[in-house]
Amino acid sequence: MTPKEKIINELKKTERDGIDNLITAMEEGKFFTAPCSGSFHLAEPEGLAKHSLNVLEYARKLNEAWGRLVADDSLVIVSLLHDLGKMGAFNKPNYVENVLKSGKAAAKPYKTNPDLLYVPHEIRSIVEAERWIHLSEDEEFAILYHNGMYSELKYAYSGKETILSLILHFADMWCSRVIEIEDEGKEEKE
Ligand SMILES: [Fe+2]
Ligand SMILES: [Fe+2]
Repeated sequence: MTPKEKIINELKKTERDGIDNLITAMEEGKFFTAPCSGSFHLAEPEGLAKHSLNVLEYARKLNEAWGRLVADDSLVIVSLLHDLGKMGAFNKPNYVENVLKSGKAAAKPYKTNPDLLYVPHEIRSIVEAERWIHLSEDEEFAILYHNGMYSELKYAYSGKETILSLILHFADMWCSRVIEIEDEGKEEKE
């Protein structure tokens, strides 16, 4: 199965109302072919899909190790959708190819789209998901604070951590900082 097929399969299994419309929006928004970052981790076509699946895999491992504290369908929803905002919005991609004026390939293969107004991707993920499906309060909170103390939202999150948000944060950090890193010393960390 391709990353796209795996993601669609997992999302459909949640049987959440509106999930088919969300999947269509993800296809039209090019979620399945988007990169995951400009240069830091999985800066390649399908990078966002691969990262989302990696996060689900590690979120499940953590949940299993810690005694199945949260329902699997919530893990699927928050893991696969936490970076949904990185596909962009308003028919504009979040990342565009970073081509130098000389026409040569840049060291950083993608850059943030200058034609898309900046909204933190945690917030955009929630907005885009909730156009189509209902997120529970716990799921919405976990997606909003998935970057933990690495986010501009860190002071709002500190001291209010939930089990689901911690599992998502730890799984996301482990994947982006350990599993998906090939080269050290890269600059962009999202
Ligand atoms: Fe993220
Ligand atoms: Fe992520």
